[in-house]
Amino acid sequence: MKELRDHFEITAHPQNAGEVRERIRTLALEAGFIGLDLGDIEIATGEAVTNAILYGSPNSGSQILISCCFTQNALHIEIRDQGHGFDPARIPVDVGTDALGGRGICLMRALMDQVDLHYDGKGMSAHLLKKLRH
Ligand SMILES: Nc1ncnc2c1ncn2[C@@H]1O[C@H](COP(=O)(O)OP(=O)(O)OP(=O)(O)O)[C@@H](O)[C@H]1O
Ligand SMILES: [Mg+2]
Repeated sequence: MKELRDHFEITAHPQNAGEVRERIRTLALEAGFIGLDLGDIEIATGEAVTNAILYGSPNSGSQILISCCFTQNALHIEIRDQGHGFDPARIPVDVGTDALGGRGICLMRALMDQVDLHYDGKGMSAHLLKKLRH
């Protein structure tokens, strides 16, 4: 069974978000994801890394760690920041249609099979999981 891994870090600058989306997309393609699923992975990854840059990086030199692995027919992406975290329980299950923002986490949940957000005292980590369906 196919197993793939990528592990890297970026400095928390907005211009580095594209590199994360690209690298995850490359690994997902190699794993066999296609079409809409590939787009879902890219969008959810972009939302998670944007949050890590905007809210999880105390200064411009803060690092964000990205781990991605494809194993047992599922893609696991972890995005870990160095911020003060937040309580994911306060994120609504659904955002109203008239809300202008606050959609990122709801989007991640809609597009991925599983989304887990944890704070471990050192930073926040977002785990995103997408199953390969074919
Ligand atoms: N890594 C993080 N560290 C600290 N707080 C976070 C983190 N990710 C999200 N949050 C908090 O959760 C809130 C909701 O995040 P979400 O991505 O759903 O919406 P948003 O970033 O406010 O807006 P949008 O993603 O639609 O531009 C954020 O406003 C922020 O307060
Ligand atoms: Mg967001």
